Amino acid sequence: HENVLHENFIGAIDQGTTSSRFIIFDGVGEPVAMHQIEFEQKYPESGWHEHDPWELVSSVETCIEEATKKFLEKGHKVSDIKAIGLTNQRETTLVWDAETGEPLHNAIAWPDTRTKGLVREFKERKGDQNLSAICGIPLSTYPSCLKLVWMLRHVPEVQKAYDEGRLCFGTVDSWLIYNLNGGKEKNVFVTDSTNASRTMFMNLHTCQYDDELLSFFDLDRTKLRLPKIVPSSCADAYGTLSKGILKGLKIAGCLGDQSSALVGQQGFTPGSAKNTYGTGCFLLYNVGEKPTISTHGLLATVAYDFGRNRKPVYALEGSVAVAGSGVKFLMNNMGFIAHAEKVSELASTVDDNGGLVFVTAFSGLFAPYWIDDAKGTIFGITQHTQRGHIARATLEATCFQTKAILDAMEKDSGHALSDLAVDGGMSNSNICMQVCQEDDHTQSNIIGIPVNRPAMRETTALGAAIAAGFAVDIWKEFSELKAINQKNRMVFEPEVTPEESQKMFKKWDRAVSMCRGWLD
Ligand code: G3P
Repeated sequence: HENVLHENFIGAIDQGTTSSRFIIFDGVGEPVAMHQIEFEQKYPESGWHEHDPWELVSSVETCIEEATKKFLEKGHKVSDIKAIGLTNQRETTLVWDAETGEPLHNAIAWPDTRTKGLVREFKERKGDQNLSAICGIPLSTYPSCLKLVWMLRHVPEVQKAYDEGRLCFGTVDSWLIYNLNGGKEKNVFVTDSTNASRTMFMNLHTCQYDDELLSFFDLDRTKLRLPKIVPSSCADAYGTLSKGILKGLKIAGCLGDQSSALVGQQGFTPGSAKNTYGTGCFLLYNVGEKPTISTHGLLATVAYDFGRNRKPVYALEGSVAVAGSGVKFLMNNMGFIAHAEKVSELASTVDDNGGLVFVTAFSGLFAPYWIDDAKGTIFGITQHTQRGHIARATLEATCFQTKAILDAMEKDSGHALSDLAVDGGMSNSNICMQVCQEDDHTQSNIIGIPVNRPAMRETTALGAAIAAGFAVDIWKEFSELKAINQKNRMVFEPEVTPEESQKMFKKWDRAVSMCRGWLD
C-alpha cells in the first residue's frame, strides 16, 4: 500500500484572499510541486474590498499549468494525478448571468464592510434573533447574504437578471468550479456544505437551503439560481477540468479554506482544534455530528462533510478579520517594511510594545465581539513610540483575539483546550508567526497553553487533497492518514505566569471597549 501511495498524486487548488496556488501532493501528504500567484486587491472606497472574478479564474488556471510543468519535470506523468481538490476563501460573493456566463459585478470579498447599514436595517426585522439557531451565524457584514442584497439594490443589471430568473449566486468555489468545467455549456453549478454554511441561506441542521432564511432576506427561490449543495468529498458532482494541461481530470473535493485546514491538521475527533493565520485568522473547534449554537459570539459551521453514509461534522468557529492583512497594511499603506517577512525584524528593534495596543478593526471587529462600527485604533501613543512598537502591537492584536475566542469556546463547549494546532501562510512565510512564537512565544504566552506547529504549513491545500483522495478511494478511513504531517512538529510552551498573561489581556479588553461607535 505504501508504494501505491507514492505513485498516487492529488492536486489541490487553494484560492485564498490574496493569492491562488496549486499544490500537487503525493499519497503520504508531501507536496511535490507548487505554484502561487498573488492577485489584485481592489479597495474602491473606504471599507470596500473587491476581486476581479476573471482574475480569480485565470490565476488558478496559471497555477495549475505552472505547478504541473514542475511536476512533469520531476519525471512524473499527468496520469499519476488521480483527482483535484479545491479549497477557497469563504463568504466572498459572486453573481453572474446564467445565459452568458458573464459576471455582473466584481466579487465582494469577505472583509468588505459596505453592508454595515444593511446590517442595521435587517437587525430591525422580525426573526433576526432566530437566524443563528437555523444557520449558526448572526447577522453581520461578514457572511454572503447581505453582499448579495447590496448588489441587488445597487447594481441594476443584477436586479434585472434576478427579475428575469437569470441570476446565479455563488461563493468562490461555485464560480471556479463552473468556469473550470467550461462555464454555461456544461453548467456545473454546485457548492459544498462547508461553503454553503457561510452564506446564511443554508439550514445547518439539514445542510439544505432554508425558505425561512431566504425570505428573511427577501429572496425568491424561483428567481434566484442557487448552486446545488453536495458533500465536500464527492467523485461525481464537481465535474472535470475542461482545458489546459490537466484537461479531463476530475474535481472530487471541495471545502471552505478553514474547514480544509481542520481536515489538513486531521482535526477529526470532537475536541480537536486548529488556528490558521492567513489574511484573517480562524480558529475551528470540532464539536462532532451535531452543531453547537454559540451563545458567546462564535459561529457554528459545517467542519466537513465526507458523504457516503458519513454524517456532516460541525465546528465552533472564532473568526478574526485581520491577521496577515495587518502586516500588509504596515508594508503597503505605512511603508514601514519592504517585505512582509521583515515585520519580525522590525518588531525585534524594540523590547516590548512600549505600552501600545493596536485594535486592528479594519473590517469592524469579528469574533467574539462583532462590532461593525469599530475602526482600527492605536492606544497609548507617546513620544516614546517607534515603528517597532506598532509592528509588535499589530502582531499581538491577532494573538489577543485568539485568546478572547478561546475563552468564548470554553464557555460554549464546557471544555478548555489543552494545546492549539496552528498553520497558515503567515507561519510558512515567516511573517507574524515567527515573532509570535519563535522569538517571544507571544501567542502561547497570551493563551497560556502550548502552540503546536506542523513542519509542512500548507494544511489548507492538504485538506482539499484529502477530501478528493477519499472520493477516489486513495484513502478509505481517517485512521489511514495518521502519519501524515506529524513529523518535526514544533511545540511552543507559554513562558509567563497566568497572572502576567491576564494583565496583558486586560489592557486589550479595555482598548476594545473604547473603539466602539466610531462615526463615519
Ligand atoms: O472567511 C474568510 C476566510 O475563508 C479567508 O481565509 O486564509 O484567505 O484568510 P484566508
